[in-house]
Parts: sequence; C-alpha cells; structure tokens
Amino acid sequence: MFLSHHFPRVNAGEIGHLVLLDLLLALRCSSGRKALYEPQCRRETVRVTATYWDERYAVSDMLCSGHPNVWVKELAGELPAGRMLDQAGGEGRNALWLAQQGWEATIVDFSQCALDRAMHCAGELSVGKRVHVHRADVRKYQPQSRDYDLVLIAYLHLPPAERQAAIARSADAVATGGRLLVIGHDRRNLEEGIGGPQDDDLLFTPKEVAEQLADLGFLIDQAQTRARLVDTDHGPRIAFDAVVLATQI
Ligand SMILES: C[S@@+](CC[C@H](N)C(=O)[O-])C[C@H]1O[C@@H](n2cnc3c(N)ncnc32)[C@H](O)[C@@H]1O
Repeated sequence: MFLSHHFPRVNAGEIGHLVLLDLLLALRCSSGRKALYEPQCRRETVRVTATYWDERYAVSDMLCSGHPNVWVKELAGELPAGRMLDQAGGEGRNALWLAQQGWEATIVDFSQCALDRAMHCAGELSVGKRVHVHRADVRKYQPQSRDYDLVLIAYLHLPPAERQAAIARSADAVATGGRLLVIGHDRRNLEEGIGGPQDDDLLFTPKEVAEQLADLGFLIDQAQTRARLVDTDHGPRIAFDAVVLATQI
C-alpha cells in the first residue's frame, strides 16, 4: 500500500454535500440543540435505510454540476469507454461524467430520490440515452455476471460482512479485462482526516479491499490511501480516501 503524495484541492462539493451536511448536523447534535434533521443524531441506526437517504437528498440542492469524484476522473478517465455500473451511485455525479466520456452507464441505488435526480441531470447534460437507473439494495442486488467493463463503488459504507458481500457481487459483474474501482472514506479519517461515518466498523483501508479482491483472482492495479484537500468553512482540511483499482483476469 502506498500513500499518495499529491493533494488535489477540491471545493467542499467534492467531498460531497452529504459530508458537509453531516458536519452541520453533527454540530447541532453535539451542541444539544434540537437537530434540524433528527435521524442524524442516531446515525448508526438509520444510515443504511433508503428513507434516510431519500430525506437527505430531499433537503440538499441538486446541482447537475457534471463534476465527478477526483479519483474517478483520474483513474476511470484513462479507460476506454464501455459499459459501467455505478453501485450506490446516488445522484450519479460519477456515472453522468463517465456517460459524457462515452460510457453506457447504469446507476444502482436504493434511494428513488437520488435516481430521479440522476435522470433529471442526465437529461440536462444531454446524456439521457446513455444513462440507466435501477432501484435496488446493493446488500442483495446481484448484477449480471461478467457484464461490465467498469464497476464503481464510491463512498458506500456498510458493516464489514455486508461490505465484503457487496464487493464480491460487484466483482463478479466485472468482465474479463474490466476494472473494479472501490473508493471510500479511509479508516485513517477517524484520527487524522475529516469526512465519512465516525464509526470504525463502517470505514475500511485499501489493504482490506485489495486482499479480498486478490483472493477473488483480481490483479491489483493500485491500493492507496490518498489525501484530498477540502475547503471547509474552517479553512482547508485533509480527507483520506481508500482507493483500490483492480482488474478481472
Ligand atoms: C455518500 S452517497 C455516495 C453516492 C455516490 N457513490 C457518490 O460518490 O457520489 C451513498 C449512497 O449510497 C446509497 N446507499 C447506501 N446504502 C445502500 C444500499 N444498501 N443499497 C443501495 N444504495 C445504498 C445511498 O442512497 C447514497 O446514494
């Protein structure tokens, strides 16, 4: 595992409006004031429900920015366009950008609100014909075997057994020669970085994901903890991401 030495600067939108919302709401929760959005104070019990995510999307702005995650742009941007699956793809910032690069993109998410927004933005960005959405719970969803040139899992944070099962099913959906890209808040954020769930069980390291994928027969192209500079109201902060790119051989 290598620690990347480059620190791309991103605006707060890059870490995701969800994380900003987390910070704001966490402040309200910890200050003892009544939270604007009550479930945030009991995050571990509600985080993984579709209703919880629907409500989070409903109170956030829809930007249709077309801006992908920085690691998706760097790593998937180099790949020849093909068919891609965005597991827990949310509003589709990554899938929509890939569709703009010529990919045929399918977004799976259990939030109908997120999927509606993704399709709305696909139309705005003139890629509606190349974007498909499917409402499903990735803890159970089994995509077609060996069907995709790229499968992406970005910022999906599940307990270890569920995460490993979702990764295994996603891995099975990668065609021979295709790539699996897993990105998430690194466990290191608990002590040193910002962003993501403040729960060790829901975080992971690149090593853990790489070991699972190697066991599944993948070639590990890279497994790194990468640092991002995030502009916050309190100045620039570092967020650590676990980033794993692997090839189905
Ligand atoms: C932090 S957002 C990340 C969205 C997107 N991958 C991105 O990077 O912009 C997490 C997404 O995972 C979805 N999600 C969480 N658990 C899920 C599950 N079990 N099945 C399907 N979607 C899930 C949520 O609805 C939400 O859209």
